[in-house]
Amino acid sequence: MEYLVTAEEMKRCDQTTIEKIGVPSMVLMERAALACVEELVDGSFNLENVLVVCGSGNNGGDGFAIARLLHLRGIAVCVYFAGNEASCTQETRLQKNICEKYGVIFVSKLGVGEYTSIVDAMFGVGLSRNIEGHYADVIGYMNQSEAAVLAVDIASGISADTGKVMGTAVRAIKTVTFAFKKIGHVLYPGTEYAGGVIVKDIGITVDGFGNQLPGVVSYTERDLQLLPPRFAYSNKGTYGKVLVVAGTYNMCGAAFLSAKAAYKTGAGLVRIFTEESNRTMLQTMLPEAILTTYDTCDYRHEQLEEAAEWADVIVFGPGIGKKAEKRRMLELLIKVQDKPLLIDADGLNLLAENPQPLGERKRPAVVTPHVGEMSRLCHAEKKDILDNLLQTACTYASKQRVVCVLKDARTIVSDGQKIYVNQSGNNGMAVGGSGDVLTGIIAGLMAQKMPEAQAARLGVYLHGLAGDAARDRCGTYAMLATDIIEGLQEILIRG
Ligand code: ACO
Repeated sequence: MEYLVTAEEMKRCDQTTIEKIGVPSMVLMERAALACVEELVDGSFNLENVLVVCGSGNNGGDGFAIARLLHLRGIAVCVYFAGNEASCTQETRLQKNICEKYGVIFVSKLGVGEYTSIVDAMFGVGLSRNIEGHYADVIGYMNQSEAAVLAVDIASGISADTGKVMGTAVRAIKTVTFAFKKIGHVLYPGTEYAGGVIVKDIGITVDGFGNQLPGVVSYTERDLQLLPPRFAYSNKGTYGKVLVVAGTYNMCGAAFLSAKAAYKTGAGLVRIFTEESNRTMLQTMLPEAILTTYDTCDYRHEQLEEAAEWADVIVFGPGIGKKAEKRRMLELLIKVQDKPLLIDADGLNLLAENPQPLGERKRPAVVTPHVGEMSRLCHAEKKDILDNLLQTACTYASKQRVVCVLKDARTIVSDGQKIYVNQSGNNGMAVGGSGDVLTGIIAGLMAQKMPEAQAARLGVYLHGLAGDAARDRCGTYAMLATDIIEGLQEILIRG
């Protein structure tokens, strides 16, 4: 697990390291500068003629130290000081003086096309308002230049807390950040402006947060160790029974994808509860699944009650449609209070039209809306949701007492307290059926007794990794939801 921090959390951690642990701020700056130089020298940067753009804040201080270190290595480097002397921090003024005394060249104007690489050290996490005027012109210059840009800590103009562009922002090909990724490195559009993000250790550790740990986390490959165990002495009952209530006449694929993904994540038994018209197709495509079908003209609750009683985990919604009997099915399943329940797709649309008290359940339901479904669920504009992804997921989860999986290019998971931001996956996964696969993966993990919030976080992460494996095999244009299921198998073998 890695923390994704806000500007305020990072500053607090910096300050603790400086004041309580006693590491001088100049030492932190030196280490930050050394880390950037290491990347410039070892990475893909042409260092024939380097420009370092410095601001007045401590990010500028890092920049002056970088310029000095490059100069001392015999690399042709110039500094452009975009800030002003009067507002320099003490450390930055000191770094600037040292730079001048070593004879580093300062330029007062920015020519076009002169430099092979640019180091952007104008603003770091201290950016506090929109960029305008002179600073906007400097960013315009960096973006128009053909030089490759390395951003120090975060691309100037990107909010560290939201990833939003504050007026205008530098487009870097690489960002070197320190100790922890910032939320703005991961959320869109900030992640695109960052280029590749490299996190360097400069002696700031998690101890700097004291007992107030950051509230936003993400998973990395190390977290595959959270996968539920497989036991030598076990049988299909050990790994749980998933009931997938899904599919209509025209949407039997949704039921198939969720059910197959649940099996492929390790569930012991999967039963599909669907319309009679889907029987032949599903039995042919997934003979491993148990099938219970109903006649839409003669649907009786007893059948569903019996199936729900059988299950360890219930999924409701993929391709289910919105007919009246489906609404009654959902009402019934919500009342089965002591079984893990996942509501997806049309299940969420039915919920939006007929709000149900999910918070009264003994176990939190997992809901998996995309932004359109979320907008119907919480009666908010899509734009407002996209502008506040983290808060929207967290507030909805806390108000409804559910685990909310808000699906977008960066899917967010929240149980109303912690927030998880997913970094795996790619745009090939933007394809019909991808969400049905995610539903099956989360259900498969819940069937193996994983608590709802953890199953949602790990499920989202696995789904993205499976998509990445599928991309490596079939590219992003040709990817189908079934390729994601194949990818799942590949990463579970590796994991
Ligand atoms: N337009 C114009 N000026 C602006 C704008 C804007 N849109 N937004 C902010 N500023 C100015 C403000 O004057 C602000 O200073 P203020 O806090 O006095 O208002 C300043 O820019 C912020 O500059 P930054 O360099 O972004 O912020 P800060 O000085 O907090 O430094 C830091 C950020 C710590 C250098 C971080 O990005 C970093 O690179 N860390 C690496 C590790 C490191 O060097 N740590 C030790 C630093 S020393 C210390 O923390 C005391």
